[in-house]
Amino acid sequence: MEKKITVLPGDGIGPEVMKGALEILDGVATRFGHAFHTTVKKFGGAAIDHSGSPLPEDTLLACKQSDAVLLGAVGGPQWDGNIVRPEHGLLRLRKELNVFANLRPVQVFPGLENLSPLKSNRVKGADFIFVRELTGGIYFSQPKTRDKEGKNATDTLFYSSEEVERIVEKAFELASVRKGKVTSVDKANVLETSKMWREIVDSTAKKYPNVQVEHMLVDYAAMRLISEPSKFDVIVTENMFGDILSDEAAVIPGSLGVMPSASLSGNGPGLYEPIHGSAPDIAGKGEANPVGMILSAAMMLRHSFQLEKEAEAVERAVFETLQAGYRTRDIYSGTGYLTSTKEMVNQIHLRMLEDSTSA
Ligand code: NAD
Ligand code: IPM
Ligand code: MN
Repeated sequence: MEKKITVLPGDGIGPEVMKGALEILDGVATRFGHAFHTTVKKFGGAAIDHSGSPLPEDTLLACKQSDAVLLGAVGGPQWDGNIVRPEHGLLRLRKELNVFANLRPVQVFPGLENLSPLKSNRVKGADFIFVRELTGGIYFSQPKTRDKEGKNATDTLFYSSEEVERIVEKAFELASVRKGKVTSVDKANVLETSKMWREIVDSTAKKYPNVQVEHMLVDYAAMRLISEPSKFDVIVTENMFGDILSDEAAVIPGSLGVMPSASLSGNGPGLYEPIHGSAPDIAGKGEANPVGMILSAAMMLRHSFQLEKEAEAVERAVFETLQAGYRTRDIYSGTGYLTSTKEMVNQIHLRMLEDSTSA
């Protein structure tokens, strides 16, 4: 199979973890006989420094013309005071690609419960997925204002029923091929958008009699997520709630560094990125965890290329590497081997190849 991938390494640890993911994709191409044609483009702070824009037109065009987009991370303190920030490029890219459905799986592999700072018996068996609305809500709604004196500011939270319907539909579709449960997270005791959201969830539920539905207010959901993570299957929620809850949920498998994501539109190219940021505190040290980025590449194989066997091979190699005790600093707690990004990637790569000789 031949595929065109636009690669956006971005800033901070973005390029470090991207290097690892591309190495693993090379391994997949060799082992399974595919050709992945990658084009690296400037994006985020790196693009601002080069041309003044975080999403240059040639980068956007390349993304639109490819089969999938792989993204590291953007942002950093050097651009925090800018009027045009690296993060604006990311938001615009999501909007331009219309990737409204952001899937963020959370899975505790059997035997790897001790990667979590939470008690092992709590995180055991956790296997759920966020379906986060990604191109609407308070991130994008107008007006956004700031008066001249800087003393008054506005953000707007708007959702159209179409925007809610398509993301809720996606959640039900997923639940019907998973464990058959949708938890819809909202703030319907306060927000008008949430009240509409709840009604749409209830009417969509009628089409899926085999899917159980529960509504949960976001404050309580934040608590339940870490007290009883194994009770969830599909969590559908609006843009900002999903952003916050998914970082919180990263403590369940162990670290932000292991969390992948896929952002899908239903027709055009999907966007694949770890959920973490550019991690300025560790950038350049060679110690970033590449697992979230590598698992994002596996999601690309599955969702954009329908290469299920290949996706599973990558996931298995990651699992076996962790099981063998290799740990980057973010998940190291005194046992096993403390490794660099590079060594972690090598170990995962090795297991991909070992697996192929036994297959
Ligand atoms: P962050 O996710 O970059 O880092 C939070 C903490 O997690 C840091 O201590 C960091 O070292 C650690 N961490 C994150 N990823 C890791 C990895 N792979 N391995 C090991 N440790 C890891 O969040 P932040 O510090 O709040 O934000 C930093 C910058 O990143 C900001 O400019 C923010 O806007 C941006 N950001 C970008 C994205 C993205 O590009 N998708 C996502 C989130 C934040
Ligand atoms: C994420 C990030 C982004 C978001 C930022 C960088 C705009 O936190 O992908 O989770 O809030 O969506
Ligand atoms: Mn986030």
